[in-house]
Amino acid sequence: MDELQQWVNKDAVYLISAVLFIVGIKMLSSPESAALGNYLSALAMVLAVGVTLLQGGITDFRWIAIGMAIGAIIGFAASRLVKMTAMPQMVAIYNGLGGAASALVAISEFLRLQGQLAPFLTIVILLSLFVGTLTLSGSLVAFAKLQELVSGQPVVFPLQHPINLLGILGALGCGVWLVFHPGGMEYFWIVAGVALVLGVLVVIPIGGADMPVVIALLNSYSGIAVSLTGFVLENNVLIISGSLVGASGIFLTTEMCKAMNRSIWNVLFGGFGLTAEGAPAPATEIPGGGAVKSYSVEDAVTIMENSSSVVFVPGYGMAAARAQHQVRELGDALEARGIDVKYAIHPVAGRMPGHMNVLLAEANVPYDLLKDMDEINDEFKHTDVALVIGANDVVNPAANEDPSSPIYGMPILNVEQSRHVMVLKRSMNPGFAGIENMLFYRENTLMVFGDARATLSKMVDAISQD
Ligand code: TAP
Repeated sequence: MDELQQWVNKDAVYLISAVLFIVGIKMLSSPESAALGNYLSALAMVLAVGVTLLQGGITDFRWIAIGMAIGAIIGFAASRLVKMTAMPQMVAIYNGLGGAASALVAISEFLRLQGQLAPFLTIVILLSLFVGTLTLSGSLVAFAKLQELVSGQPVVFPLQHPINLLGILGALGCGVWLVFHPGGMEYFWIVAGVALVLGVLVVIPIGGADMPVVIALLNSYSGIAVSLTGFVLENNVLIISGSLVGASGIFLTTEMCKAMNRSIWNVLFGGFGLTAEGAPAPATEIPGGGAVKSYSVEDAVTIMENSSSVVFVPGYGMAAARAQHQVRELGDALEARGIDVKYAIHPVAGRMPGHMNVLLAEANVPYDLLKDMDEINDEFKHTDVALVIGANDVVNPAANEDPSSPIYGMPILNVEQSRHVMVLKRSMNPGFAGIENMLFYRENTLMVFGDARATLSKMVDAISQD
């Protein structure tokens, strides 16, 4: 063991790991290279953990082995059992655990070095404790909202922001006291307690529809906590990998806000779905007594067969129905008849970034047929059929037309400009934002009710029988 320790240069291996993390993350930006990017990042993690374990100072590996075995079993089971649609909840839990791990390291180092901590280390430990604990409780609330264990509605109460500010100032005061009077354990626990409560208070006023953005932000916080832990433990790879997670989480948060045309402040403090007075937004008045045109599969197929261009618009319902393979089969069948087929991808369709891209890539839909919102939006006015598959909010014209709508200003796919809009969904229920969609009542819209997978299968059969 000693020889191996001398032979392996820890910092050189950390550097290789850091480079592999960066290359791995970069490769995640395209579906073609994403799988390899994942493997490279996993290899980087194995190298970083391996070389850390090789360092001296660990006298008993049993607890580490038990922890790794439990973690491996949970990770393996989660990768097999958790559905794609529940991925945001899983990410929320992982973020929370990352925060908890950082907070636990901060606690153990504070207890170990109690009374002899230099000011810099005290500050770093306190920050790691604060950010880690806040990430833990905030992520648990985000998980509970997404899993529908608690209401997804924003929970607002009087003096919310002043109370949060008071908490931050209180924690700050305790932190400053500890820097000048090392060893005051009670102040240390007050900082932890305040962070725990603040995590809950800052996430409960945020509506379920904004939860994926909050999760990206908490992901960033968990990275910051890990990076701070790196300073506490003087471990370079933790500093680098934590900074990478922190920075990429912030980028992702910004991109998601941009796609919804919202500022991060509006997401965090806006109470999405509530009016200025804090009451739920009023129901939209439906024209024509709420009548929609419901079509049979056969009639819908006839329209598609007689068209020259069809744009598929997938949304969360495609993921929920696991209909991506049937989508591709229908696309292939239409293309075989000489019809031009494209796929329009909204940046926040589904429940996580890149959700639609991942599912369509799994079904081997050619990448060059996937068109981003900016690329496809001008084409809808020349399109015969926009086939909306379980998408709702991302095609809701209220975003363009109704200033009182909570989603007003969010860029949408302009499907209503197509000659025909076909909507595949099971009922008239709203989407994630919980608001009515006037698209369904438009003159050129027809609804084909049913589970998206079953409907698409019937459409493929109807085309093949011709
Ligand atoms: P949604 O607006 O959530 O609508 C999904 C629709 O799918 C529902 O109206 C539902 O109607 C239908 N559906 C569910 N299961 C179905 C099934 N088995 N077969 C057919 N249809 C089914 O989806 P979207 O348009 O993709 O919008 C995404 C929402 O998530 C937006 O509000 C967005 O802001 C939010 N969000 C997403 C992200 C990311 S990163 N993707 C981030 C933040 C927020 P029925 O129940 O009637 O079938």
